[in-house]
Order: sequence, then structure tokens, then C-alpha cells
Amino acid sequence: MSRDFALLMEHLRKKTGEVELDVPSPPISGDAATATLLAQARQAAIRRGDRVAHLYKMGKGERRSSRANHRSDHRPDVTASVTENECRALIAGGAKWVGPPVYAPVPKRYIERIRVRNFRCIKEIEFPLTPLHALIGPNDSGKSTILEAFAAISRDSSEAACEITAVSAGRALTRTPAVTMEHPPEVDPKDVPKDVPKDVMDRPWQSPSQAMMALVSPVTVLRLDPDAMRQPTNLIAQGCPLEYSPRGQGLAAVYDALLSRRIDVFLEISRRFTALFPTARSIQLTNPSRTTKALGVELSDGSIGADRLSEGMLYWLAFAALPYLQPTPVILIEEPENGLHPSRIADVMRVLRDVSNTSQIIVATHHPLVINELQPDEVTLITRTPERGTIATPLSSTKNFEQRAKVYALGELWLNYADGDLESDLVADSTTPFHG
Ligand SMILES: Nc1ncnc2c1ncn2[C@@H]1O[C@H](COP(=O)(O)OP(=O)(O)O)[C@@H](O)[C@H]1O
Ligand SMILES: [Mg+2]
Repeated sequence: MSRDFALLMEHLRKKTGEVELDVPSPPISGDAATATLLAQARQAAIRRGDRVAHLYKMGKGERRSSRANHRSDHRPDVTASVTENECRALIAGGAKWVGPPVYAPVPKRYIERIRVRNFRCIKEIEFPLTPLHALIGPNDSGKSTILEAFAAISRDSSEAACEITAVSAGRALTRTPAVTMEHPPEVDPKDVPKDVPKDVMDRPWQSPSQAMMALVSPVTVLRLDPDAMRQPTNLIAQGCPLEYSPRGQGLAAVYDALLSRRIDVFLEISRRFTALFPTARSIQLTNPSRTTKALGVELSDGSIGADRLSEGMLYWLAFAALPYLQPTPVILIEEPENGLHPSRIADVMRVLRDVSNTSQIIVATHHPLVINELQPDEVTLITRTPERGTIATPLSSTKNFEQRAKVYALGELWLNYADGDLESDLVADSTTPFHG
């Protein structure tokens, strides 16, 4: 995330500025040859997804519309270049697209609803999702099981009777151990005859389209582990995508590649790192051997070493690098709050929100501060009873949500009931558990 982007977002959030989005301006003067070169450069920039944002700051009492009417008289206060993803986030925050409609950023598709049947402790659950979504609830309620069900959409499952359906943009993708198929959401996969061979399946059941498979596969699962993140790792070869393992192994190589490929990003992360961890002077990369790199930190007393990186620092560095990794459609994260001081959770959640413009992010959490960074529709409460198995209830459908939301921040609102027993009471009387 660039500093310019953060500034634009802040003005939008506080309603102290208007942001207009456009493609880079065409050249105004110059001879024909220069104009052609510049026009080509513009086309290349557009293909890369580059956009420009113009910020018009507003004085006290100034009305948005009056500014809009006299746009041509004003020069923007700030002009910044933003990526396509940043552009999407700005539009979601209220910025206006004024460039040619054909270049307007296309909203990212994501899984809007999921249904899981007969998967371990889950008998049947169905709930709506958002690009950034959290599952909260007591231990043992089935949060991790739901994440595993997500992962199972993109690969064969060993659960004999399981059936997992993901819905997006009016289409559904269902996976069972026997078949993977695409169908209208209103068709229940239970009604599909079992003996239909895959290759001759006809509408409304058909082999999954590439577009539908691209929504759910591949899935990245993150269970970050400080020991794995500390390990020295082999370098990432030139031109290869940036990746670390589900436990975070390879983090040093990712930072090494950022240092050589994206020095601006490395310096920006380093700046945020030293602001958040005041004893640190800079992020360092050390060479334990000729072919490996390890992460270290230069502390204010001058010492350097991977062992000086606290767990909190390692977790933060892993999340800060996430926007620059090879994107995958879905990222599942177990307890993103792990190892982080409460004051740094909001920062990590901002990174996740930024990444959620590219990849859908589902987190399983116990932490009210994670929930405080989310909107009500971005949180689903997971509980479990012996009779019904796992139950999923959107937080906004829990008992007396409207009244309680006036008094409490979302995290506290949940924590108020989060003692195990009362939590199930909260769900038992909830108005409408989501179905269809
Ligand atoms: N095949 C199964 N049938 C029923 N329950 C299962 C099965 N496999 C695992 N479980 C149970 O599901 C429970 C939910 O676990 P989990 O998803 O890890 O909860 P959470 O992440 O919310 O703490 C665990 O107690 C586990 O023993
Ligand atoms: Mg769990």
C-alpha cells in the first residue's frame, strides 16, 4: 500500500476530500513522434492497470456538489498513481471514476455464499461471505473445519458424504467426492442423479467453467509459525513468483526478492516496521551461507540477527509481504492475531483489507480487536451443539443485534456473550439464521 493511497483513503473516510479516478492523461504538446511515443506509454500504463487519482481537498463547510460543478476551475491538490486494486478500494470508499468507462476497474468476483454438508462436525451450514470475512466463536465449534471445507473445494476430499457448494455472481460450484459441477444456485445438488457421467452432463448441471474454478483454486492456507519464518531459505530465482510456505518458510527469500525487484516497497515496509517497532532501526538480510538468506533486524544498540526478531515482528513481516506474493483467489488464515501485540492488530487487518481486493480472505479468530476492524456483514458466529453440529449465524442476525450494536463496538459486542454457554443462547434465539 503506497503512502499516497493511505492519504487518499483518509480524506475519503473523513469526508474532507473528493477523489476522482482516471487513466493517465494524454500528452498535451510536442511533435507527432513524441506524441505517438507518449500515447504508446499511456496504453502500456493502462494495460498494466495503472490509474491516476486526483484528490480535491475540501475546506470547512464546502459542499461536495459545488466542487464537482466547478471541477474545471480547480487543479487537484494531490495527483497520485494508484494500482488497479487500490483503485477498486478507493471506489468502494466513495471515489468517482471519471475516465473512459472501458478502463474502469472491474469489481473482483468472490465467493458470495458457501454451503457445507456432512463434513466432519458439520451436518449442514450455509452463510453469506464478503471479500474479507471472519469466523468467530468458541474453541471446538468448527471454525478450522470450515476453513478446511474451503480448502476441500479445490481438491479431492476423503470425506465420503461431503458436499461443498460455493456461489458467486449467480452461479454455483459444487464438489462431492464423486463429481465437481457447476449449476444455478437454486438447483440442489442432492437432486442431481448420481449416475450421470461427468462428461455427458447436460444443463442445468455441467462441468465447471474455468471462470468458476478460478474463484476457488488454488487456495492458500496460512498457519504461520515463527520457527519456520526464522529459518534461512534458498533465494527465489529471477522471474519466479514470490511465495512463502503455509507456515511462513521462505519469508527471508521474499524480502530478499523485494529488495532487488521492488526497492520502493521494501523501503516502505521498512519505514512502517520501524514506526511500529521503535527499538528496530531497519530490516536486515543476512547470509548464513552462500546460497541462503535469513531475516534479521538492526536494533538501536547496533546488533543484528534473526534471533533478535520477536515473534510479533515475524508475524507482522509475513502479513506486510502478503500484497506482493503471487495472488491466489482465496487465502485462509488461522488466527491472524497470533503473536501480535493488540496495538498492531489493526495494522495487520488494514493489510488484509488491502489484499482482499485481489484475494478473498477468510480468517478464523478469537480476538475482539480483529472483529473491531470489520463491518457486521463481514463476521459470522460459529457455534456447535451435539444435536445440530456446527451452526453458522451472521453476527448481524444474532439476538438484539441492532440495540447492542448501538452500545458496543463489534468485538466487545461479541465478547459480552463469549463465555461458551451464553454464546449458544445468543444463537438459539437469533431471528433468522441464513438460509438461501
Ligand atoms: N469426522 C468428524 N466428525 C465429527 N466431529 C469431528 C470430526 N472430525 C473432527 N471433529 C471434531 O470437530 C471439532 C471442531 O474442531 P475445529 O474445527 O478445530 O474447531 P475450532 O477451530 O472452532 O476450535 C473438534 O472437536 C473435532 O474433534
Ligand atoms: Mg481452530
